Amino acid sequence: MSSSVEFRGAVVLAPMVRVGTLPMRLLALDYGADLVYVEEIIDHRLLGCSRLVNRRLGTVDFVHKDGSLVFRTCQRERQRVVLQLVSEALGSCTSTLYRGLSLMYSVSTRPVIPLSSVDDGSDFRANGNRLASMSHRMETRLFGVKATSSMVFLSKMDFLVTVALESPAPSQQRLSALLPLPSRERDVACIDVNMGCPKDYSTKGGMGAALITDAPRAVAILKALVANLSIPVTCKIRVLPNLSDTVALAQALESTGIACLAVHGRFKHERPRNPNHNDYIAAVCRAVSLPVLANGGSGDAVRLPLDVEYFRRVTGASGVMLARAAMHNPSIFRREFEDRLESSETLVVKYLKYAITYDNPFPQSKYCIQQLLHDRTESEVYRSTLAAQTWSDLCTLWNLSAWYGEHLAKMQHLEAEEEDASQE
Ligand code: FNR
Repeated sequence: MSSSVEFRGAVVLAPMVRVGTLPMRLLALDYGADLVYVEEIIDHRLLGCSRLVNRRLGTVDFVHKDGSLVFRTCQRERQRVVLQLVSEALGSCTSTLYRGLSLMYSVSTRPVIPLSSVDDGSDFRANGNRLASMSHRMETRLFGVKATSSMVFLSKMDFLVTVALESPAPSQQRLSALLPLPSRERDVACIDVNMGCPKDYSTKGGMGAALITDAPRAVAILKALVANLSIPVTCKIRVLPNLSDTVALAQALESTGIACLAVHGRFKHERPRNPNHNDYIAAVCRAVSLPVLANGGSGDAVRLPLDVEYFRRVTGASGVMLARAAMHNPSIFRREFEDRLESSETLVVKYLKYAITYDNPFPQSKYCIQQLLHDRTESEVYRSTLAAQTWSDLCTLWNLSAWYGEHLAKMQHLEAEEEDASQE
């Protein structure tokens, strides 16, 4: 697939649970990150979401039916944000779920009912004959015989849909005829599949790093995605203990047509304290021609902005993906004053303003602020930050009380305007 997103030479914010939400992504962009990955999202959660335009915040929100916010994005990052998914459906999934997901696909071309109400087999049965017959028709025409799975990013309805395919993906022409994907309606620049998560909850379900030892399944997933999506598909892996297996895996993944491969140079069982296998990343880079992002260098090869280029060169990668170095100090992305980092005070204030402006969950924001202060854990301000219970506490602590007052007044004003508009 030709990619409108430039991965070569890119320095990107890695996907990070709890950290990679909108405020951190915007901060990373401020300091020069080329692309920003969202924290991993389990596809099934996203399927239970409604897409809401939040006029007050100027964001697009994917809100789960249980009321929780799953993904918030805004216009500023639209060309640069990569949505990372892990998928239960891509792993070992019950046939009921598969049936429900197939139905979503068929419904997706005609928004008969909200997708969120058909995310399991029972709702599927409850939704009547018309849907059942559509589902049947779609399956026989498109879904062939053998089971693999796929996802579709439905720009038309702005939903991500997981599809159960019973055969290799249908041809791209047939799908694009069914799924008009006008680029102006996209919420994200790329979809990434996480094949690197070593946690039990992922691997037991056949997700995350389980996929790097199951190349045929990994390839089937990516092929189906590449065939079905109009935006680039990327993938993030860990390396395998055997170098030639790692190279063979990378080559197999390249054959799927993905736009970029991010390689974390650690084995599945290795922790951040283990050295990163930069030589494995280098071998992958020599063996494939698609862009590779080198990952795993934080705190080791990469401590300062000027180390980023060093890490890229020793791995021979096209670009670099940074997680912990960026979580601790997003000024790692800057391209001037490369021999020093921004002060943690400045970063906390900037982060706090974004977190409040975009109504980021409070506990998550506090966690990120703690990370920004990671080298000041003995300080009074760190202890007080930990003790803070409200935005107001944090703003007082970080001398943002006046700003916070103005922000609240602005929000009240917008709320009043919205109420007036709804009564007209
Ligand atoms: C991660 N990592 C990670 N990876 C991924 O593919 N999806 C995710 O959601 C997460 N979540 C996550 C949270 C936090 C707090 C950390 C520190 C890490 C792994 C991360 O993207 C990266 O692969 C590793 O941290 C190695 O890169 P660094 O830290 O050496 O730059």
